[in-house]
Amino acid sequence: MMPLIEPTTDRLLLRQWRDDDFDAFAKLSASSVAMEFFPKCLGREESDVQAEKYRQRIINQGWGFWAVELRGVAPFIGFVGLNRPDASLPVSPCVEIGWRMLPEYWGKGYATEAARAALRVGFEQLELEEIVSFTATINVRSQRVMQRLGMQHDGEKFDHPLVPDDSPLKEHVVYRLSRERWLQNEGA
Ligand SMILES: CC(C)(COP(=O)(O)OP(=O)(O)OC[C@H]1O[C@@H](n2cnc3c(N)ncnc32)[C@H](O)[C@@H]1OP(=O)(O)O)[C@@H](O)C(=O)NCCC(=O)NCCS
Repeated sequence: MMPLIEPTTDRLLLRQWRDDDFDAFAKLSASSVAMEFFPKCLGREESDVQAEKYRQRIINQGWGFWAVELRGVAPFIGFVGLNRPDASLPVSPCVEIGWRMLPEYWGKGYATEAARAALRVGFEQLELEEIVSFTATINVRSQRVMQRLGMQHDGEKFDHPLVPDDSPLKEHVVYRLSRERWLQNEGA
């Protein structure tokens, strides 16, 4: 078991998952708004399996897709964090940054605030050289988070191997942030 990393920000705590997060995560997994750019919503069992997987990764490596708590307001508003993707993707091996928030907490800057803390962990504590992010080309809202973080897209795309060929979600865009650029922008 690795030492647990649980970053905080002005408004948020990025923390290990607790049993009582699983209900709220199931709500997120079942939300057709939040899951618009995924192949399908998740049922309770699939949602619990995913949450447990994220919890185990944090146990094993100290970091991962953290549960995000809105401090003093809501114990679980979504997840944000760093992850090594399971699928063998054209961008693998890599560490990605990703997010999924309950829709009632969109439009407040929480995803970007949490992601900034996650990037800091990635570059300062894990000493990564690069962090990538990818999403369906039509998921503009997620790309706006990447852009706010200073991540760059140079036209790099790939067809996601786990998405059916005829799906509008097949094509993904890739954003990247090097340690060097992060240090120039935010790290100082
Ligand atoms: C992607 C996702 C996390 C983005 O959420 P979001 O709320 O748009 O992003 P942020 O939390 O960074 O909030 C930014 C917005 O809050 C606004 N905002 C309000 N108060 C703010 C504050 N105090 N500080 C910063 N921004 C604030 C910003 O102006 C911005 O609004 P805009 O999008 O209208 O320009 C969310 O849409 C989501 O969970 N989607 C479903 C899952 C998903 O698609 N994940 C990615 C798959 S790869």
